Amino acid sequence: MTQRSFVAPIVVAASVLGCGAEADSPSLPDFSEPPTLTDINPDPNIVEVELVAGRATTEYLRGKPTEVWAYRDGAVPSSKGTIPGPFLKAKVGDDVIIHFRNELPADETTIHWHGVRLPPQSDGTPSTQTPVLPGADFQYRFTARDASSFWYHPHVRAYDQIERGLYAPMVVTGGPTPDVAADRYIVLDDVKLDADGHLNEDTTELDRMLGRQGNVLLVNGQHAPVGLRVAAGSRERWRFVNAANGRYFNLHMPGARFLVIGSDGGLLAQPYETETLLVTPGERYDVLVTFDGSPGDSGALETVYYDRGHDIPDPGPQDLLRVAYGAAAPTQPAPLPEVWGPAPRLPVTDATLVRPFVLSEYEQPGVPVLFTINGEQWPDNKPVHVMRGDVEIWEVRNDAPMDHPFHLHGMFFQVLSVGGGARVPDGWKDTVNVPQSSTVRFAVQYDPPGMWMFHCHILEHAELGMMGDLMVMETE
Ligand code: C2O
Ligand code: CU
Repeated sequence: MTQRSFVAPIVVAASVLGCGAEADSPSLPDFSEPPTLTDINPDPNIVEVELVAGRATTEYLRGKPTEVWAYRDGAVPSSKGTIPGPFLKAKVGDDVIIHFRNELPADETTIHWHGVRLPPQSDGTPSTQTPVLPGADFQYRFTARDASSFWYHPHVRAYDQIERGLYAPMVVTGGPTPDVAADRYIVLDDVKLDADGHLNEDTTELDRMLGRQGNVLLVNGQHAPVGLRVAAGSRERWRFVNAANGRYFNLHMPGARFLVIGSDGGLLAQPYETETLLVTPGERYDVLVTFDGSPGDSGALETVYYDRGHDIPDPGPQDLLRVAYGAAAPTQPAPLPEVWGPAPRLPVTDATLVRPFVLSEYEQPGVPVLFTINGEQWPDNKPVHVMRGDVEIWEVRNDAPMDHPFHLHGMFFQVLSVGGGARVPDGWKDTVNVPQSSTVRFAVQYDPPGMWMFHCHILEHAELGMMGDLMVMETE
């Protein structure tokens, strides 16, 4: 094993850009969220939008423009692409129609609505649609069934297209609503930049091995840390998604309290308090943050070390959001709801079929690293065939000395156990971290019929083979 030699470039790249040198910078960018897509349909129960993918320019480093790919609102004639892309908002029960146009000059693409339960023909994977050619259109359509936080992104060469900026938040509202001073979506990412601000386009062996880790952390597309003002003593709702190719965010905020109220599939039955919250690529968490403090105090949301394997070095805590506490809120937040989400209770017994999946990585000197599921490397894999309505247990064993966040399309699952001492995630999940050299078991009920992908959400790993297809067959 030669992982040690992989370590140096990350550290060097970070210091070239002088990350951390701005710890005392007086003017941080203000926290901001992308614009909301225009709903062009007057029917209150239909959300109909026009979405365009194309080239755009952003400024991750002040004064140094970066050429990116970005989504923009096609219903606003002069709109510019933003990172993250425009916010898609709907409420439970809405019909959502997306008229998508690919204005990338030379690349085909698709859109996957990560976590959304929808018909397979709108799932946006190469297993369910022909990619949208440059200049072509495609219409995605689904009914919003679950109140939660989602995100959308391409599913063609995702490791490259997402890195270039194609990703955006989506929220479906409905159900119990805690009283909060603000409801924010915080999209976490990182990006690998050259000193002149250009995206570094080399994919190194280290990038392939770990998933590309950038040298600049991004909060809603802005160079972290960003600044945010809150009312002292107030409570806000922060929805997090990790949109990075490979980086894990382990969130911690001294002086504030985290109450985790929701995850991928919506509100938990039982919210829980935590000091640190691990958000692995693809996952979402919905957190109530209470700022115990006085006007004039300040705090920082930071990401702290988490050992995801292969001796990735600890850069120390890194600030994502610097929070200034302003005047106290005029009123105390109202008491929290007594009932939150339904607990997933799939009927699992000793007789439930257990389906084994093994995640492996292969390293040999001089040969690019490759990743497999059950010894198969996508796209040369055979789909797993199952019957609609069946409940089964997936036993996902990670053979590798590195964590893999495992994502299943089309349906939520209920995590039963996690090896390695990690917390068993509550609620409905579509992405779960499988810690290095350990096993995760989850229960799932297959529905709807169709072809659904499952894969590691470290995007380089998926592209290098750690991806499969699940064929849910209609019962006769
Ligand atoms: Cu967000 Cu198949 O992925
Ligand atoms: Cu992986």
